[in-house]
Amino acid sequence: MMEENDNCILIKPDEAMLDEIASYRAAFLDAGQKLYGAGLLPEFEDPKDWLHHNRISEHRETVPAGRVPSEQFVLYRTSDQKIVGMITFRHEFNDFTREYGGNIGYSVHPDERRKGYAKRMLTECLERCRAFGLDRVLITCRVENEASRRTILACGGVYEKTVYCERDDATLERYWIDLT
Ligand SMILES: CC(C)(COP(=O)(O)OP(=O)(O)OC[C@H]1O[C@@H](n2cnc3c(N)ncnc32)[C@H](O)[C@@H]1OP(=O)(O)O)[C@@H](O)C(=O)NCCC(=O)NCCS
Repeated sequence: MMEENDNCILIKPDEAMLDEIASYRAAFLDAGQKLYGAGLLPEFEDPKDWLHHNRISEHRETVPAGRVPSEQFVLYRTSDQKIVGMITFRHEFNDFTREYGGNIGYSVHPDERRKGYAKRMLTECLERCRAFGLDRVLITCRVENEASRRTILACGGVYEKTVYCERDDATLERYWIDLT
């Protein structure tokens, strides 16, 4: 597990990764799985448009209306140039993210699970959150999502409460991770 992890870096996706981004997206769509941690990637057929969207989403001045500023990262395995995971860091809350969405969303490629990548990715993302200036982050997961719950707990998540999200018809557990 450590060997694979050691070949990975958390970076912002760029134009050198267009094919990899498309493959990552397709892997989820083909498997019929919801693509978390990738912002609006499910809606962008052209990865270039997604990269542009990510860039304008980073700043309050340019973020599309109704969305909060956020940063998009990928866990990139340098040994075979593969994107093994994606993670989004939302800088701020709006009414939805304050209650249901939280600061961070993530996913690991369906073929790359249970190798420690989610823990690795979240650990590094928390460092970015701390550097950004947050004292704590909120992460939510569906009650039935054991893998996500265990990822959050492994990274120091403290359970707060369980809430029902009508929009997604989902029961969500809320966890806080202290960064101080
Ligand atoms: C949740 C997800 C990101 C986990 O990725 P991963 O790389 O397989 O996770 P890791 O290998 O880092 O394991 C993290 C923890 O989850 C546990 N875990 C992983 N898959 C599991 C599964 N299918 N069932 C139960 N536990 C599981 C691991 O044992 C580990 O826990 P531990 O430290 O207590 O042993 C991945 O399953 C995924 O992408 N799911 C779909 C998207 C999603 O649900 N995103 C989260 C939205 S809140």
